[in-house]
Amino acid sequence: MTLYNLKGRHLICLTEYAPDELERIIEVGLSFKRRFYAGERVIPVLRGRSIAMIFEKPSTRTRVSFEVAANQLGAHAMYLNWRDLQLGRGETIADTARVLSRYVDAIVARVKEHSKLEELARYSGVPVINALSDLSHPCQALGDYMTLLEVKGRLRGLTLAFVGDGSDNVLHSLLVAGAKLGVNVRVATPRQLQPNEEILKAAREAAAESGAEIEILEDPVEAVRGADAVYTDVWVSMGQEEVAAEKIKLLRPYQVNAKLMEAAGSKAVFMHCLPAHRGQEVTDEVMDGPWSIVWDQAENRLHIQKAILALLLA
Ligand code: CP
Ligand code: NVA
Repeated sequence: MTLYNLKGRHLICLTEYAPDELERIIEVGLSFKRRFYAGERVIPVLRGRSIAMIFEKPSTRTRVSFEVAANQLGAHAMYLNWRDLQLGRGETIADTARVLSRYVDAIVARVKEHSKLEELARYSGVPVINALSDLSHPCQALGDYMTLLEVKGRLRGLTLAFVGDGSDNVLHSLLVAGAKLGVNVRVATPRQLQPNEEILKAAREAAAESGAEIEILEDPVEAVRGADAVYTDVWVSMGQEEVAAEKIKLLRPYQVNAKLMEAAGSKAVFMHCLPAHRGQEVTDEVMDGPWSIVWDQAENRLHIQKAILALLLA
């Protein structure tokens, strides 16, 4: 049993978190959501705190949910576009981290290369939170397992089937968190798009401890059969525009449509981190159909961000 010593920690990759720490974050997220619906919109545990949010890529959900989360906790969050900071003119990440840590209580950052987060963290005196990198998207995966827990009433023993780009950043975080939380993760992806090796190794090690199964398959129908959730993400992630045509061609057989959801069976819900590319990785009938819990996922980003900020900063 670990003590919940999350105060002051960075949140760069979920590999650095123990299973019960992830469970704790999800539990606190659910509790923030319950209290919100009970009318407690503001729980000012971070009154007077400030959060810098640096974005090197576009964002709707992550940006807005963090900003609203900070507000509901009594903190002030400021959106900073990478280009508009001196970073855009060549000031180093290290110097930026040193300066920002003198002003703010946390740095939330969405970056092109994951190494930039590690560098921010190395020189920052305050927690650095990964708001998506080319490698991972931990806050998304935490919100998604919170949603799955809400919908299914448990996590241990569930099976999540991810269909699409095996090298996807969101999938990487789903693999690591799923393995730690006892969720079996099956991936259906072309041979050319395998998950990052280190991530897969970490997920397999965590799975050996939790009893979860991690399977990398090629056939989408085999992967989704009997699954509790079918998950997909865009085929072309931000920054991959140059290889778009190639990826779309490889991934065409991996579309999540009504036929695939029917092959999954009656238990399966449909999940997507959004934004969706309707007509590509998912059809309208699935996005808007009875399987879809994508809006709950989006909503829960708000409550999980509050849990992350409160546990790391309060
Ligand atoms: N899912 C997600 O992170 O969405 P945004 O890119 O809109 O933040
Ligand atoms: N894989 C997607 C996730 C967006 C939230 C991307 O990186 O663009």
